[in-house]
Amino acid sequence: MKSDTKPDVCVVGLGYIGLPTAAVIARAGCKVLGLDVSQRVVDTINRGEIHIEEVDLDGLVHGVVSRGLLSASITVAPADVFVIAVPTPFDKDHAPDISYVLAAGKTIAPVLKVGDVVILESTSPVGTTEQLRDMIAQMRPDLKVPGCTRETPDIAIAYCPERVLPGRILEELTNNDRSIGGITPRCARKALAFYKRFVRGECVTTDARSAEMTKLVENAYRDVNIAFANELSMVADRMGLDVWEVIRLANRHPRVNILSPGPGVGGHCIAVDPWFIVHGAPEETPLIRTARGVNDGKMHHVIRKADALVAAHPGAKIACLGLAFKANIDDFRESPARFVAARLARKYGERVHIVEPYASELPIEFTDTGAVQIDVDEALETCDILIVLVDHDVFRVVPLAERADKLVYDTRGIWPDQPKLVREEPDLVRLAS
Ligand SMILES: NC(=O)c1ccc[n+]([C@@H]2O[C@H](COP(=O)([O-])OP(=O)(O)OC[C@H]3O[C@@H](n4cnc5c(N)ncnc54)[C@H](O)[C@@H]3O)[C@@H](O)[C@H]2O)c1
Repeated sequence: MKSDTKPDVCVVGLGYIGLPTAAVIARAGCKVLGLDVSQRVVDTINRGEIHIEEVDLDGLVHGVVSRGLLSASITVAPADVFVIAVPTPFDKDHAPDISYVLAAGKTIAPVLKVGDVVILESTSPVGTTEQLRDMIAQMRPDLKVPGCTRETPDIAIAYCPERVLPGRILEELTNNDRSIGGITPRCARKALAFYKRFVRGECVTTDARSAEMTKLVENAYRDVNIAFANELSMVADRMGLDVWEVIRLANRHPRVNILSPGPGVGGHCIAVDPWFIVHGAPEETPLIRTARGVNDGKMHHVIRKADALVAAHPGAKIACLGLAFKANIDDFRESPARFVAARLARKYGERVHIVEPYASELPIEFTDTGAVQIDVDEALETCDILIVLVDHDVFRVVPLAERADKLVYDTRGIWPDQPKLVREEPDLVRLAS
């Protein structure tokens, strides 16, 4: 890749990370081919449309597609830089599954040429970039691969994780600092030169394994701190205290900053990535493992508490507010809110109403439960019990006058002025268990 000309880029995996990344790189003037295994995704993008919800992404994708800078395909083509952003889930035993990464590597290996840069962005267990490198070396014995040759390698391979916040992805893609870990320092420098084309944040180079671990550590840090808040909320329930009041007061300490409790932890990152560390060092990670347990346990606590509230008011109509794993997004993966609402729907059927402004229809597990989707206005008009599961802005702005007469279980603390009906019935949790 010549430094004076704009590289052709291939982004592998066009999901929540890959598509915005492809669009931002295209906006910087590079010709981008987006590669995905889903024909539906490819067709949608080639029409200049998007298949995910993200602020301002539709206009950007439409713009770069119509200017001929971004196109999508299910077939790989040669490029100068390859960016891999495919899923990295875990299996039923919480062991990381890097098969998508290796499949992506297998796809691009045949078209690699001297001078190319391969960058893995998927959140990955430590050592994955080296495994990707080994696979490429095996498939392309004609190429000198970094770490496997004493001569100057033909290609560069690096790891650069994503730390964007859904809802702010386009802004954070360009403004966040990046850790860029090369298989060798030369690889890191090659990747750095690429990111400098569209990242305004500071780009810090390191080795691939450290960069992989950095991403996992960031999410484990969040998980552990959220677990502390969630544990406090369960303690407060047991003691009949208002956890929000306690946290508000404790955070007045200049060196204390307790996070907000919620119905658990969801999404594709924080609920998943800590397991990659636990799996890599099982004996050294009691805290990280326990935090996972606390956050999953909080979801079951919320189910018991919501169940007790509903059971104590036979015939009352219930509205579950939110299914997404966090506020103001349409991402329902690993969402505790979705899990809680589905459990209530299965038990209480048509009494349950789901309010989720970011879903055009209810997820599959609600089929045949009798639960229906309504909007927030209808919920406020017709439902007696409001169970707040997600702090979407559209819920947060509901004034007290419209909910003062409701029975409210607010797992996100969005309505501090709500009369504390649940708190006045502290034995509800015990009733249900
Ligand atoms: N979503 C986030 O907020 C976020 C944040 C930071 C990091 N990450 C990480 O980024 C990676 C991607 O996550 P995502 O949320 O974009 O996933 P996603 O499921 O939204 O998208 C992944 C895309 O990859 C495609 N794909 C799967 N295998 C493929 C293959 N072999 N070749 C081509 N395409 C393939 C899928 O069809 C899908 O469109 C994961 O490792 C995730 O942990 C995600």
